[in-house]
Amino acid sequence: MEHISLAVIGGTGVYKLAQLDDVSSHQVQTRYGTPSGPIRVGTLLGQRVAFLARHGEGHSLPPHKINYRANLAALQQIGAQRVLALNTVGGITELFGPRVLACPDQLIDYTWGRISTLCEEPGTDVLHVDFGHPYTPMLRSKVLAAAKVTGVRLQDGGCYGATQGPRLETNAEIARMRRDGCDLVGMTGMPEASLARELGLDYACLAIVANWAAGCGDGDEITMAEVLANVDAASSGLPELIGELARG
Ligand code: HPA
Repeated sequence: MEHISLAVIGGTGVYKLAQLDDVSSHQVQTRYGTPSGPIRVGTLLGQRVAFLARHGEGHSLPPHKINYRANLAALQQIGAQRVLALNTVGGITELFGPRVLACPDQLIDYTWGRISTLCEEPGTDVLHVDFGHPYTPMLRSKVLAAAKVTGVRLQDGGCYGATQGPRLETNAEIARMRRDGCDLVGMTGMPEASLARELGLDYACLAIVANWAAGCGDGDEITMAEVLANVDAASSGLPELIGELARG
C-alpha cells in the first residue's frame, strides 16, 4: 500500500484538486459499499495526496445519500491516515461571512436517518468513541500552521452545525442554531466526522463560507450561482495550503 500524506474530500463546488499532477484513478470497493466516485491520487507540490469528490464529480449525490462510511474506508484502504474535509457552508455569526475560510473546532449534529456508525451491522463491535473534540486537535493545529506559512487567511475555531438538507434552512432554524452556538451551517459535516473517529483517522474540517445563512444577510434568496462563485473565489489559496499541510 502506498503512503498517502493527506486525503482531501471536496465538497460543493470543489470537484477536483487544482495542481494535482500525475494523477491515477482508483475505483475502490469497501465492506461498506462504493464511495462517491474514483479516488484521484497524485502529486501536489511534491506530496502524495488523494482526492475524493464527496457528492460525486458531477454532484449527483445529495448529502443524505452519500455513503460516508465507504468514502472514509476507501481513503483509509488506499493508505491515507489524515483527512482534510472541505465543506461548503453558510455563515451564521459575524466573523463567518461569505468567502471566509474557517477551521471549526466544534460541531452540533442536526442530521437524522443517516447511517452514522460502523456498528450498524449485526455482529459488529459497539463503539463509543470519545468525541468531545470532534476534529483531531493535532491535525487542526497543522492546518492552521499551513495557512500561516502559505499566507492563507483562516478563521481559527467556530462551531459547525450539520443539517439534513438538501433544502436550505428556514430563518427560524438558523436563529435557533445561532442560539445553540453554531457559527457555520452545512449539510455534510456529519456523520463524516464521527465515522472518521470510529475508523481511527485524523480528521479536520476546512469550511468555505459560500453565503450568509438564511436570515443572516440582506435577505436575498441564496442561489447556487452565488454559492459556486464564492467557493471559487475563496479557494485560490487552497492548493498551496494543502501542499504545505501534506508536507508537515
Ligand atoms: N446551509 C446549509 N448548507 C450550506 C449552506 C447553507 O446556507 N451554504 C452552503 N452549504
